[in-house]
Amino acid sequence: MNLKINDLYKFGIIEDILNRSNDGINIVNTEGILIYANKVSADYTNAKAEDMIGNPISQYYPKAVLLQALEKKCAILDKKIHFIGSKKYIVSAYPIYINQQFMGAFSIFKDIQEIDELNNKIKYLQLHLKLNEPEKDVFSIIGKNGSLSQVVEKARRTVASLGGPRHSIIIGESGTGKTMLANLIYDFAKDVHVIDEKAPFIEINCGQFTNPDIAAVEIFGSEEGAYTGAKQKKGLFEQANRGILFLDEAHALKQYQTMLLKAVESGKIRRIGGSKEIPVDVIIIAASTKNLKEEMLPELYQRLAQYELYLPALNERSLAEKRDLLRYFVDKYAKAVGELHGIQYHVEFSQEAEDALLAANYPRNIRQFRDIVNYSIDSAAPLISDIINETEIFTKVDLENLPFDTYDLYHPNNDAAYRNDLISPDAAKLVHAYRNKGYGPRIISKKLEEHGYHIEFYKIAYYLKKHRL
Ligand SMILES: Nc1ncnc2c1ncn2[C@@H]1O[C@H](COP(=O)(O)OP(=O)(O)OP(=O)(O)O)[C@@H](O)[C@H]1O
Ligand SMILES: [Mg+2]
Repeated sequence: MNLKINDLYKFGIIEDILNRSNDGINIVNTEGILIYANKVSADYTNAKAEDMIGNPISQYYPKAVLLQALEKKCAILDKKIHFIGSKKYIVSAYPIYINQQFMGAFSIFKDIQEIDELNNKIKYLQLHLKLNEPEKDVFSIIGKNGSLSQVVEKARRTVASLGGPRHSIIIGESGTGKTMLANLIYDFAKDVHVIDEKAPFIEINCGQFTNPDIAAVEIFGSEEGAYTGAKQKKGLFEQANRGILFLDEAHALKQYQTMLLKAVESGKIRRIGGSKEIPVDVIIIAASTKNLKEEMLPELYQRLAQYELYLPALNERSLAEKRDLLRYFVDKYAKAVGELHGIQYHVEFSQEAEDALLAANYPRNIRQFRDIVNYSIDSAAPLISDIINETEIFTKVDLENLPFDTYDLYHPNNDAAYRNDLISPDAAKLVHAYRNKGYGPRIISKKLEEHGYHIEFYKIAYYLKKHRL
């Protein structure tokens, strides 16, 4: 005997299928009384399906989309996200007609928690890529009329002077904008047609390899049999032909610097293990956090350093410029997040938070500053689940939103001992008591003054943060 469609009804198989579905299903009559609810639907409401049947759907789902389908007698394909507790789902509801007579309606709802979480993850990845990518547009470069005015002008000259493009060297501590400046040179070079609009920009950090042999194969390529298992491979030098090769931490090439020197002098390279000379037309930008004059092969240094571009550390820049950087990163974040969630997003830093941020010390310079700004906004911003219907959101970043580390950065000479007795046990009791009343660090500091304790607000903020108060 073969299974027939009628058997599905007769033996309750349909019901079994509906109960095993991952989607919730409800069916009501014209009065909105449930005549069927599957297991998912029942689980949603923490009820039993058999208890639900015979009761109005509104008892379990007060805002049921099904009720709209009943009223309008047409399908409602709802795109809105509905919540029951922390569960999220989207619903579609359809009328039921039998012999053209309206008999009721049914709804199907899909749990989108997982999809939603995945979707959010993707969105956040995109956001972070956006926030972390180096600024490529000269208008975005803070300090172009201040601390960087000369270096930006010089950078233009490396590729746009009448005598033709030159190689160059960029020196600056980690996170000072070396990659950004190299990108900028690339754009200048395209603007003045020294290189083609589609010219390559190839970047490699020579310091990332465990040994210089591997870096050399990457850069110069290899011929088959050059070393055990070697294949014929085009190196980055060849890939950068007619464009720019950005060699970060170039001194890490060690002995292969002589090959680089040869390439610079003759305009030709040889692949590792090869004998053929391959002509290359490449503008080289070498960068380093170290003083390349001391680290690099002197002849190579001399060849590349016709233009040496020096990027100052963040703490060498003026307060006004740091403030501009803060505004710039805040605006960038607010704009990106606003676009991501389709809202107008405004962010403001309290005076104390801004002062603390600007006074802190940043060993990893602008990148670290940017990350701390982003982190602080993150920690002050509302949760994604709180912004369902808003179109405009304001976030105020306060001292306690700054990451823990900032207080160390603020007082770089603080050693652990100093931090531990930052606040005496008696004063700490008062801090706890005032915190319990909901006061912030600045007010607590004032109150302690009345008790004869002089403790700066940022120390209190640090204490609150450290003790998660
Ligand atoms: N003057 C500036 N204005 C705006 N953004 C800047 C400025 N300088 C640096 N940045 C940003 O700071 C971040 C770090 O810069 P970048 O990656 O160019 O530094 P780096 O010197 O190459 O760092 P590393 O030594 O780690 O390679 C980037 O997002 C960059 O766009
Ligand atoms: Mg870099």
